[in-house]
Amino acid sequence: MPEVKLIKRFIETENGHRLREFESAGGYGSLRKIIGEGWDAQQVIDILKASNLRGLGGAGFPTGLKWSFVPKDIEGPKYLVVNADESEPGTFKDRHIISGAPHLLIEGAVIAAFCIEAEDIYIYIRGEYYEPARIMEQAIEEAAEAGYIGEDFLGSGHTVRVHLHRGAGAYICGEETALLSSLEGGKGWPKLKPPFPAIKGLFGKPTIVNNVETLSQVPIILDKGAEYFASLGIERNGGTRLFGVSGHVKRTGIYELPLGTPMKELIYEHCGGIRNDRKLKAVIPGGSSCPVLTAEQAASINMDFDSLAGIGSMLGSGGLIVMDETTDLVQILWRICRFYAFESCGQCTPCREGTGWMTRIMERIAKGEGTVQDIDDLKEVAEQIMGNTVCPLGDAAALPVVSFLSKFRADFEAQVGPRRVHAGAVVTQAEAEEN
Ligand SMILES: Cc1cc2nc3c(=O)[nH]c(=O)nc-3n(C[C@H](O)[C@H](O)[C@H](O)COP(=O)(O)O)c2cc1C
Ligand code: SF4
Repeated sequence: MPEVKLIKRFIETENGHRLREFESAGGYGSLRKIIGEGWDAQQVIDILKASNLRGLGGAGFPTGLKWSFVPKDIEGPKYLVVNADESEPGTFKDRHIISGAPHLLIEGAVIAAFCIEAEDIYIYIRGEYYEPARIMEQAIEEAAEAGYIGEDFLGSGHTVRVHLHRGAGAYICGEETALLSSLEGGKGWPKLKPPFPAIKGLFGKPTIVNNVETLSQVPIILDKGAEYFASLGIERNGGTRLFGVSGHVKRTGIYELPLGTPMKELIYEHCGGIRNDRKLKAVIPGGSSCPVLTAEQAASINMDFDSLAGIGSMLGSGGLIVMDETTDLVQILWRICRFYAFESCGQCTPCREGTGWMTRIMERIAKGEGTVQDIDDLKEVAEQIMGNTVCPLGDAAALPVVSFLSKFRADFEAQVGPRRVHAGAVVTQAEAEEN
């Protein structure tokens, strides 16, 4: 099946980051429609619910439902926050939207702000995205000059201001409660939920946090209709998403395909298959925190939230990391462990200590100094982290470990030396094999 370029059509428009080109491609049409025709928020929310749009930042929560949680008719400000922190290893889709079609994001964010009655939109962008931030800044200025944002935008009687906030390089600030703490000027530490941001978010006020790609789909859905969008995907998984493919495929890049597309089709048709026609070994399906899949699983799984959850993994951020038969999975897992240990905010003990512990064990194994006992300890530490932390980073660090060890244990055993038994006695590999 060819790509379905709902978002990519705008990204691929020449100079699509500029207002005039975006408008020529039909941009801001949905915002004009809902304001011009006097729609109310509920109409938009009903369409989003019917479209089966799910959050594309990782968790896949239904977007229309999330917006409906914001309390109506209460005094005081409400906020819309755009999560553009994009730091999950293997993920690079939002950067393309911000750089290629920033007005699409602004249009979606203004519609969201209109629906939840927010007058301020904060775009929290990853600190390292210097050039995308510059492009975004220019787009905000253009949108203000053209009257798409600001006081009484498009004669709507509503006000919306857009603020761009650059992060300072912490992965944890992509987690929504940490992001809000950081935006308030505090340490980027996650908070326990509930209360959820929709009830008590930025500065203690009702706040919706949405991913860049999620919001960019909103104007498209309002333009093409909920039925069309829903029909592209499968039940409860509407529309397309941008799959970012990296690793050992012939053509890495961003591919926009309906949810439910077979992974096999993505890898072998769109990406041209495995580099040098080697065999596939493993795939991380949606950013480094998602449990790894074997080649057999990759051959039969579809790329949607429910199918991947059904085999114990996740669609996550839609960033696939494809690994061929020459890949040293021990090195890969060591790298992943180092990342999470470095990025742990340190607030809770299982994550702070456990991620460091897993990294040290992986280092021993990777350097050929590990034991079979180390493999068992690694698994045990990971299992002790899971479900025992303030935020999902703990699970994000533990899940890859558990999945690599359960699916590719032989790769790890092949790199460990003396066999140490629980009682502390050391048995050499040769002795162990003799027994
Ligand atoms: C450790 C961690 C990092 C995250 N990083 C991001 C990120 O960079 N971008 C993002 O949109 N969501 C990220 N999320 C998910 C957000 O917490 C939140 O669910 C998301 O922004 C909601 O938007 P959505 O409903 O549109 O998906 C992260 C979550 C965790 C636990
Ligand atoms: S799980 Fe890790 S990153 Fe999340 S709050 Fe605890 S220490 Fe911080």
